[in-house]
Amino acid sequence: MKTQQMINIKDAEKDQIGAVITNLDVVQLEPESEEIGEILSAIYRNKLIVIKGQNLDPKQYVDFTKKLGTPQIYLQENYHHPNFPEIFVSSNVNKPGEKVGVAGTGHYWHTDCQFQEQPLSFTAITPVIIPETVRSTSYIDMNKVYKNLPEDLKTLIENKILIHGGNNRYKVTPDDIDKSIQQLIEYQNKTAPPVKHPAIIEHPVTGDKILYASSGFTMKVEGMNHEESEQTIKRLFDFIEKEEHIHTHHWDKGDLIIWDNRYLLHKSSALPVGEKSKSYRIGIYDKYPFYKGISKNS
Ligand SMILES: [Fe+2]
Repeated sequence: MKTQQMINIKDAEKDQIGAVITNLDVVQLEPESEEIGEILSAIYRNKLIVIKGQNLDPKQYVDFTKKLGTPQIYLQENYHHPNFPEIFVSSNVNKPGEKVGVAGTGHYWHTDCQFQEQPLSFTAITPVIIPETVRSTSYIDMNKVYKNLPEDLKTLIENKILIHGGNNRYKVTPDDIDKSIQQLIEYQNKTAPPVKHPAIIEHPVTGDKILYASSGFTMKVEGMNHEESEQTIKRLFDFIEKEEHIHTHHWDKGDLIIWDNRYLLHKSSALPVGEKSKSYRIGIYDKYPFYKGISKNS
């Protein structure tokens, strides 16, 4: 029987995001324990948590995420860890003749898997190799953005449906080498067609209203002509990405960061030339539908 830990959760300041959790060894946690419940509540309450001082091996990491929900196996295998397909590897560090993971991921504003019918509830990330100079991830709280939206913009999109797609962000793989751009586009349109979600979603746990749009994946507003749609999404992105909405987390060794993709957009930092970086991400589906009104398995 594992002992109960005196978990220490320091919630974010008012109107800020990000709790800091210390005094916790996630390896020791039992599934469905009180501590797991506290961690899940802290994610919903603070939108992002940082659990300090964890240095997990890949198996321990996957096992922990299974206690929070169901780990995702990402749709493209070229991102997978060789032994643990649940781990999505972002890395520019390779041994000669061996390529594991993908370099330069996520350097644009997005929320993970927004281009899918059933987007990803949480993202967990932990650094494996931290660059010498800078490594951080920036976030935008889309509940706060919704509350701050100018009234005319809010009225314009309040009951609209937005169309999202990930094809512009597709990274070619060695298997694509003899394909034309046209073939790649046709293949992508067939395997990952655009999806629709409400512009304003309601969080299934907190009931908060959230603007669900990102310049990384959102393509158009349903029911508007091309010009009107382009103007509207440009106004939205300009407003969303204002400096005052951006919160940046700088990584420390041992940080295990988990956030709620319903609430937050994120963007990875640019890596200076010559710097090495490697991180392990695991997507997690919690037990709730992504937003109120969508079925869990649509
Ligand atoms: Fe991402």
